[in-house]
Amino acid sequence: MIIRKGAEAEIRLEDWNERKVISKVRVRKGYRNTQLDERLRSQRIKTEVKLMTESRRLGISIPIIFDVDLNGNKIVMEFVEGERVKDVLESGYEDKSGLCRRIGEDVGKMHAKGIAHGDLTTSNILLKEDRLYFIDFSLGEKSKEVEVLGVDLHLLREGFFSAHSQIFDLFDVVMKGYLAAYGEGSDVIQKMEDIESRGRYT
Ligand SMILES: Nc1ncnc2c1ncn2[C@@H]1O[C@H](COP(=O)(O)OP(=O)(O)OP(=O)(O)O)[C@@H](O)[C@H]1O
Ligand SMILES: [Mg+2]
Repeated sequence: MIIRKGAEAEIRLEDWNERKVISKVRVRKGYRNTQLDERLRSQRIKTEVKLMTESRRLGISIPIIFDVDLNGNKIVMEFVEGERVKDVLESGYEDKSGLCRRIGEDVGKMHAKGIAHGDLTTSNILLKEDRLYFIDFSLGEKSKEVEVLGVDLHLLREGFFSAHSQIFDLFDVVMKGYLAAYGEGSDVIQKMEDIESRGRYT
C-alpha cells in the first residue's frame, strides 16, 4: 500500500518477513538523463543509510534498517507507528515545549559530530511513545563547516516558521536544546541568523 508519493520517493507500507515495514523506493525522474539519474538515486540512498547509521550511533533514534537494495533503489526499514512531529505540534499535545527542547538536543548532537541532516522539517521527525525518530537524511552530508550546519538550522527555522507560526516562540526552546547538546553551537546559530538577515535585507 502506497502511503506517500513524494517528488522523489514512494513510501509503501508492506509485509516483509512477517513484519510491517516501510519501503522507500526512489523513482526514476523522466526528465533526467538515465545515467545521471541512476547515479543520483544510488548516491542519495547511500547517503541516507550512512547518515541514519551514524546518527543511531550517537543515540538518536532512527528506524531500524532491514534491507538496502541499491539496484532496486530501495530501503526497507522499521515502520515507526507514530505521528509526524508536524502534526503533534499542531495538536493539543501537552508538552510542546519539552518536545521542542528534545528536537534541539538531537539536532545539536548530530551537528556536534558533523552530521548535517539536509531536510530538517517537522515532517521528517516522528514521535512514537515519547521517542523522537529522525528520517529522510537523503539530502544530508558529513560536514563540520559552520556554513553547512548554519544552512541546516536555517531550513529548520524556515520550516518551523511556516508550519508552526502560532507557536513560533518555541523555536527559541529548540535553540536552547541545541546549545545544551552542542556547546560550541553558538557560531552555527549566529550563521543561521546571518543567513536570515541576508535573505531579508538584500
Ligand atoms: N520509517 C517510517 N515509519 C513511518 N512513517 C514513515 C517512515 N518513513 C517515512 N514515513 C512517512 O512517509 C513520509 C515521507 O517519507 P520521507 O520523508 O522519507 O520521504 P520524502 O520526503 O518523500 O523523501 P525525499 O525527501 O527523500 O525525496 C514521512 O513524512 C512519514 O510520514
Ligand atoms: Mg520527507
